[in-house]
Formats: sequence, structure tokens, C-alpha cells
Amino acid sequence: MLIELSQVSKIYNQGRANEVRALTGIDLTVEQGSMVCLKGPSGSGKSTLLAIIGCIFPPTSGKAAIAERQLARLPDRFLTLHRRETIGFIFQRFNILPELTVLENITLPLLPLGVAPKERRQRAHELLERFGISHRALFPAGQISGGELQRVAIARALINNQPIILADEPTAHLDTTLSREFMAIMLQLKAAGKTIVIASHDPLVFEHPAIDRTVTIQDGRIHVP
Ligand SMILES: Nc1ncnc2c1ncn2[C@@H]1O[C@H](COP(=O)(O)OP(=O)(O)O)[C@@H](O)[C@H]1O
Ligand SMILES: [Mg+2]
Repeated sequence: MLIELSQVSKIYNQGRANEVRALTGIDLTVEQGSMVCLKGPSGSGKSTLLAIIGCIFPPTSGKAAIAERQLARLPDRFLTLHRRETIGFIFQRFNILPELTVLENITLPLLPLGVAPKERRQRAHELLERFGISHRALFPAGQISGGELQRVAIARALINNQPIILADEPTAHLDTTLSREFMAIMLQLKAAGKTIVIASHDPLVFEHPAIDRTVTIQDGRIHVP
């Protein structure tokens, strides 16, 4: 199992006045090559769950094994390394740096990995071609269209050939056409063997035929209807 969570809980600011119990007793497994949607109202814990799956921090309690590694057993430095090798993140509003070129944005995740410049450019050009945005490689990212920006964000999440793709409310700022296009690309990635987890309360996402399973989160717990 690529993602295996057992009785996972997350408490922010534990023991302090501002303590928040964000997740409680989450059991979730996701097998390789499947696409899961985390659905639930704002504040229910979706982003926190993605952060744990995304190896940003380990759970406060419970077990989280991502690509066969138990997060709680990894020192911070190794957690970061494991994240870079395993996880491609697509953020809401895409977190693209507008003053850098498209090419620079896409290769950014490779910098801390010490990948040589030539290899970086080659991988980026393959992805740019695949997503039909080669002609934008040297444009500042702030000057391209919304649809192109979305493809840049996806390309960046694929640059290190990570097996797991996570997307947090990816369609929140997209129109219907771009949202459909986003899901069509996710379907292609799934067909290519990627494992995908998307947090979203957009019906265009959770009702999409490419989604194998929708998990509803409510008050930090998995809601069983
Ligand atoms: N860094 C943080 N520090 C403290 N509380 C947080 C932090 N991030 C999220 N929370 C709280 O945890 C709960 C779950 O938040 P989140 O995972 O962002 O939910 P969602 O993505 O479903 O909107 C909310 O009550 C939120 O305020
Ligand atoms: Mg969120």
C-alpha cells in the first residue's frame, strides 16, 4: 500500500491555550495507481491530512506510512528528503513565482536535490512539451494565462517523477473549462500509474469518473454515512 494511515491524529499547539485537534483516529489506505478525493467543509481537516500524507509533518499519534516509510521514525532532515522524492504537490493558486520564468518555476524542486543544470533543463523541456507549453518556457510565469499556469503547476509536481501527487483545492480558482481540463490531466497521470489524492469540495472533482473513492472528512474524522 502506497499510503497507509492507521489511527492518525493531529493536534496543533498541543498543551497550549490555542490547541486545536485537527484530526482524530483517521484510518486510510490508498493503493498505487488510484485517485482519491478528500471532501468536507472548510476547517474539517483536509489540508492537515494532505500535509501528513505529503510528509510535511508526522501525525501527533497513530501511524502514517508513506511509500513504505513510517513518518514518525524519520528525523526531520530525512522527512524532507523523503517528501522531495515521493510527493508532488499542487497548491491552491499554484504557488508559482511570477517573476521567475516558466522553466525556472518547473525546475525549482530539483535545486535542493543537486540535479545538474543540463539534466534539469532536459526534464523540464520534456514536461513542457508534454503539456504543450514549450513556447512559454522563457516567459515570466506572471505573464502566462490561467490555463498555462495550471499546467506549469502540474509539470512542477512531476519534475522529480514522484509517485504520489497531492492537490489541495486545485479548482477553487478555476473556471469550469479549466477545472475539467485539470481533471482530464489527472486522469492521464492516473493512467500512467500515479497515485493521486485531491482535497476538494468541488462537485466537478468529486463527481468526476476518474475518482475511485471519495472520503468525507467532518470535524477531523472520516465520516461514515
Ligand atoms: N498551522 C495550524 N495551526 C493551528 N491550527 C491549524 C493550523 N492549520 C490548520 N489548523 C486548524 O485545524 C483545523 C483543520 O484545518 P484544515 O486542515 O486547514 O482544514 P480544511 O483544509 O478542511 O479547511 C481547523 O480548525 C484549522 O483552523
Ligand atoms: Mg484546506
